[in-house]
Amino acid sequence: MRQSPTCRGFGRIKSNPEGLWDAQIQAAINKQVGLELYSAYTCLAMSAHLAEQNFEGFAHWMRLQAQEELAHAMRFHDYVVERGGHVQLPAIDAPPADFGSPLDVFESALAQEKHVTAEIHAIYGMARDKKDYATELHLQWFVTEQVEEENAAGLAVEQLKRAGSDTSVLLMLDHQFGGRAGE
Ligand SMILES: [Fe+2]
Ligand SMILES: [Fe+2]
Repeated sequence: MRQSPTCRGFGRIKSNPEGLWDAQIQAAINKQVGLELYSAYTCLAMSAHLAEQNFEGFAHWMRLQAQEELAHAMRFHDYVVERGGHVQLPAIDAPPADFGSPLDVFESALAQEKHVTAEIHAIYGMARDKKDYATELHLQWFVTEQVEEENAAGLAVEQLKRAGSDTSVLLMLDHQFGGRAGE
């Protein structure tokens, strides 16, 4: 029987419940799927919060970021499947309902990125200790991605700090962030 197009590319051979793939690494990556989904969920809540304040450009930026975080979650998910592992999705917490000013929003986003970076580095260290070279390689993409994401959020924080309470600069930044293209 032909494989359905949606299942192509996983290359899954068999389930691996006996723990032939390290159980601790598998658990950490499953947890990471949840963390990336929480990031996506939080970015979506931030986008809604910004849209309510009529910052349409910042809201657009955050909505695209939610999609990126979802893609990160899928990348970890697919990796577990490719390794013949067991996907066990954790519960996702509700994001906060209020985030404050655009500066507060991006400061929260930067803090979340730093937390994600620390978690990815912890799994990377685990993979290295356990000589799981495939996981190490898989995580390298995320290590680079986190540098970019912390840089983008950090730059937004700096620009918003500089804008202060100057409404015209704030609106200019909102317009600029509205130009973010999807990937
Ligand atoms: Fe992410
Ligand atoms: Fe991120």
